[in-house]
Amino acid sequence: MTRIRIAVQKSGRLNEDSLKILKDCGISIDNGKDQLKATARNFPLEVFYLRNGDIPQYLRDGVVDIAIIGENVLVEKGSDIDTKEKLNFSKCRVCLAVPKGMKYNSVKDLEGKRIATSYPNTVKGYLESKGVSADLHIINGSVEIAPNIGLADGICDIVSSGSTLFKNNLKEVEVILKSEAVLAISPQISEERIEILEKLRFRIKSVLQARQ
Ligand code: PRP
Ligand code: MG
Repeated sequence: MTRIRIAVQKSGRLNEDSLKILKDCGISIDNGKDQLKATARNFPLEVFYLRNGDIPQYLRDGVVDIAIIGENVLVEKGSDIDTKEKLNFSKCRVCLAVPKGMKYNSVKDLEGKRIATSYPNTVKGYLESKGVSADLHIINGSVEIAPNIGLADGICDIVSSGSTLFKNNLKEVEVILKSEAVLAISPQISEERIEILEKLRFRIKSVLQARQ
């Protein structure tokens, strides 16, 4: 039997809501938290639990057909990948932030400064569009600590509640983009699986409507 292969975040902020929306679509998936793959019982679907940052490449390669992923990850690593539904959860923004005590009037104040981030392409594109050149330091997590340990003058990371910025004495100074979870589609998806995708999209749309 042909099944559509969906990537969802293995652990992290999208995981729970991603599984919840599939459940609300009436799809039962055996709890596969420790497994990397699970099969739905009543819909032709296989779930792959993957790291966020790896998902764009899996879509590109056609290893998975679709994914529930944050737009922020696609902007950074998968701007070539098509999206369909916006899923109305995991809302956040990708922001530049600096120490509370720093004088900041405009993005020009970041000229020549060191910025720590896990979103180098996103920051680079933004700063270039503003004619600012800065020195990017790529780190994969706990980015907000960088200014406090003297590693950077500012940071770029996702902000949701703002509590991580607050706890690290940083202030948000620019919003680069707003993001939420979306349904992304592999450019390699087969005709047969597109039919399954359309059934899934129909259910997702109904769920989103019912949630309003
Ligand atoms: C994420 C993100 C921010 C924080 C934003 O980090 O990188 O640091 O959440 O959320 P807030 O505005 O609600 O505080 P996460 O906790 O996932 O850890 P990581 O950066 O180490 O991956
Ligand atoms: Mg973080």
